[in-house]
Amino acid sequence: MRRSLKLVLGSVGAAALVYLYYTEVKPVVIFGLRSDYAKAIPYEKTPEGIDSLRAESCGTCHREIYEEWKTSIHARAYEDPFFQAYWKRDGNIWICLNCHTPLENQQPTLIKEIPRGRVEKAIQVANPHYDPEYQKEAITCAACHVREGVIMGPFDDSVAPHPTKFDPSFRTTQVCYRCHNVVSGPAQLYRVGPCGTYVEYEGKFFMQERGMICQSCHMPEVERPVTNGGPIRQGRRHLWRGGHDPDMVKRAVGVQVKAYPARPKAGEQVRFTLTLINAGAGHKIPTGDPDRHFTVEFIVQDKQDKVLDRRTDTMGRWILWQPAIVELYDNRLLPLASRDYTFSYRLPTNQDRMTLKTLVRYHILTDDQHEMLKNKYGLTAEDPYSFTIYERNFPLSENLEAALNETAYDPRFACATATAQSG
Ligand code: HEC
Ligand code: HEC
Ligand code: HEC
Ligand code: HEC
Ligand code: HEC
Repeated sequence: MRRSLKLVLGSVGAAALVYLYYTEVKPVVIFGLRSDYAKAIPYEKTPEGIDSLRAESCGTCHREIYEEWKTSIHARAYEDPFFQAYWKRDGNIWICLNCHTPLENQQPTLIKEIPRGRVEKAIQVANPHYDPEYQKEAITCAACHVREGVIMGPFDDSVAPHPTKFDPSFRTTQVCYRCHNVVSGPAQLYRVGPCGTYVEYEGKFFMQERGMICQSCHMPEVERPVTNGGPIRQGRRHLWRGGHDPDMVKRAVGVQVKAYPARPKAGEQVRFTLTLINAGAGHKIPTGDPDRHFTVEFIVQDKQDKVLDRRTDTMGRWILWQPAIVELYDNRLLPLASRDYTFSYRLPTNQDRMTLKTLVRYHILTDDQHEMLKNKYGLTAEDPYSFTIYERNFPLSENLEAALNETAYDPRFACATATAQSG
């Protein structure tokens, strides 16, 4: 009797602890709060002299910037199918909107209070200024440029039909900080928050020696009039290419393949080394969303393309999500760092036109997450979530050396190593 009472009390106590842990300690989302992004950017009225805050309306005068922005992931940060699927999984909780549709005018509810910092308990009231069409514009022009009815920008001598104000932060990384530095919360043991590119940004080389900021790579410089017929100015293209753009990912990595011996004979063991270098990103690669990763593959094929042997390595971060978030391992590459991946294969004595295929692929999601989002949260199979950024076939024969020499010169690789040595 006593023993079973103890058992009952024990289980009730344990259940209460688990309940308290999930309702009071561990946040319901995979990140913590910070005072800036805990709030939406306050309601904006339309600045004097223009008709509307809509991007399209800014675009009547700032045509090229508008066209660029429209192709960017910032313009799609709400309708983005990957965002929509994950947001659905998280019960469409409001906090996500503070970065994905950051203006108060874009949000259905106003947040009055967040008791004990628990986002799921926030006290919300309907927002009379909510504009669902404006919400679809996601990270729209006004999210970065409009404050208190004034258009903020990088110049101090504009002559514009709308009020303008010089804001030096446009020429610093400060404009990106609010959203690209997502922090971890209690019981979330990340080394760096989930979308924490800002803190991974290795200012030492790119910033201090070469004066590069986020915009240098993500908003390429351009000389052009800001509006039709205006004076030519030094400005930036509003492109923000990143992990969704294979060409941008290619710019980040240099690849070199070597073999020993370089002229293998039948029956010999050959050792291949693929060197991957973070030659072009100012932060770790991959960065941001913790699902992002690279794979490096070696595949031996016969002349009918039948796979005889293969090896796959992964570069990314490994995170235990439950019961607490614990980042177990992170083997991503810092700026200018490189890593060797090796693979050994013994050539058969009767080889005939065999090849080694080397592949580097970038993945937006893991296969498991993709399945889960597809089966339960409406992601469709049409949204590509991984792509090849490097692919080379090498003949496993006496011709190997010539093929290796052909690929030895990779301009990105050469450039990065040269500057690294001089610096
Ligand atoms: C009727 C035309 C027109 C519309 C509409 C318009 N602008 Fe402008 N804007 C201008 C002109 C003209 C300038 C000054 C160009 C110059 O001096 O080179 C300017 C300057 C700017 C600047 C630079 C400010 C600075 O001093 O650094 C920014 C940023 C800007 N506009 C953003 C916007 C945004 C955002 C919208 C929409 C909410 C918008 N504009 C709508 C015509 C317009
Ligand atoms: C208001 C919040 C906000 C600000 C400010 C902001 N970003 Fe973003 N950014 C986002 C969000 C949210 C996404 C992800 C959109 C998506 O994938 O659905 C994103 C995506 C990106 C991507 C592409 C990622 C990919 O997966 O392709 C790049 C690159 C980027 N931002 C760079 C910048 C830079 C550089 C700045 C500063 C000039 C900046 N951002 C300012 C919120 C912001
Ligand atoms: C994520 C933040 C962000 C968003 C969204 C954004 N801009 Fe900008 N914008 C910047 C930054 C940063 C600069 C400063 C570039 C530089 O150093 O010249 C800038 C510069 C400008 C300038 C000055 C000219 C130039 O190229 O420097 C204009 C005009 C402008 N933006 C208009 C727009 C319009 C119109 C939209 C929407 C279609 C928009 N911006 C969306 C961040 C943003
Ligand atoms: C020296 C150039 C360079 C600098 C500086 C730089 N980036 Fe990048 N960034 C890249 C390249 C190249 C990629 C593509 C590789 C990738 O996606 O992993 C990239 C990718 C990204 C992505 C995409 C991540 C994803 O999930 O797909 C984001 C977000 C981003 N950068 C934000 C920033 C921010 C914020 C800064 C400033 C703190 C910054 N970058 C500074 C070159 C740069
Ligand atoms: C503090 C700002 C911030 C908040 C809050 C935020 N995000 Fe994001 N989110 C970002 C940024 C920045 C990126 C850019 C991509 C990267 O860094 O890899 C991003 C990217 C994403 C992506 C990857 C999109 C793609 O196309 O692959 C998903 C999915 C996402 N966020 C979902 C969410 C959900 C769901 C929430 C709420 C639970 C949320 N985000 C809250 C800033 C934020």
